[in-house]
Amino acid sequence: MNAALSLGAARRHAMAQLGGISPTPAADTDHLLSAATGLTRTAFRARPEAILEAPARERFEALLRRRLNGEPVAYLTGTRGFMDFDLRLDPAVLIPRPDTEQLVEAALEAPASHVLDLGCGSGCIAIALARAWPRARIDAVDASPAALACARANATALNASHIQFLEGHWLTPVAGRRYDLIVSNPPYIGANEPEPHSGDLRFEPRAALVSGPTGLEALNHIIHSAPAHLTAGGRLWLEHGWQQGGSVREALRAAGFKGVTTRHDLAGHERVSGGYHEAGA
Ligand SMILES: C[S@@+](CC[C@H](N)C(=O)[O-])C[C@H]1O[C@@H](n2cnc3c(N)ncnc32)[C@H](O)[C@@H]1O
Repeated sequence: MNAALSLGAARRHAMAQLGGISPTPAADTDHLLSAATGLTRTAFRARPEAILEAPARERFEALLRRRLNGEPVAYLTGTRGFMDFDLRLDPAVLIPRPDTEQLVEAALEAPASHVLDLGCGSGCIAIALARAWPRARIDAVDASPAALACARANATALNASHIQFLEGHWLTPVAGRRYDLIVSNPPYIGANEPEPHSGDLRFEPRAALVSGPTGLEALNHIIHSAPAHLTAGGRLWLEHGWQQGGSVREALRAAGFKGVTTRHDLAGHERVSGGYHEAGA
């Protein structure tokens, strides 16, 4: 880019380059320009002739180089919207997906007072439920201390400090506790599936993405362990891969769940399944 560069020219230049690597070059450019300048998208669109001054321009060019190398926008800007709030993110946590909002919507269909989120990552699910149910007791577990640090910071910033965050393997840290709702978006990619050559997955923590050889291992573990932690009639909702709906429903029924049902994501794929357990176990 040359010496004096307007916001409009910087935007056009970046969009043209990002068109080669991103399906959303305009949105990516706006997020990066906003992070570099501190201006809202509306502000820099309203003044395309304004000059992008040196410090902001250097920040923008550095962010653009990293984006052209494939790094996800959410890690570059350190933020991602989920439901009706913004989360702070770092590369220790999965970038929350719009599909996961379907899991939250399913969970919110009936009230709950004791809630558990397994594999909380950034805290997106637990925080969404905590904001909807300020009086609920909400526990959130993750095996990653770095993810828990991120989730705790988000919960504090978003006035969801009634969540208790616990470190450990799935239900181990909540021995003896029962819930009327358990939710989880566990890792569900199979270790034998081909490594992605493009997209955000290459930069996200492997432990957040990959379960065992088939991808169903964490889901099955949670389904089999959950009844001992559910109150009578307690519900379990799980996010899963778009081709895993049949296996997850089968595992839920085999573990004694009733009313087993599946919800679809925005692309129309099976994505979230759940049911209730009459007796707990
Ligand atoms: C797919 S990410 C979901 C993160 C977040 N809930 C979301 O929806 O964006 C799965 C999470 O499970 C955590 N995890 C993986 N194995 C675990 C285990 N054995 N016990 C507890 N958490 C685990 C990972 O650290 C990661 O944060």
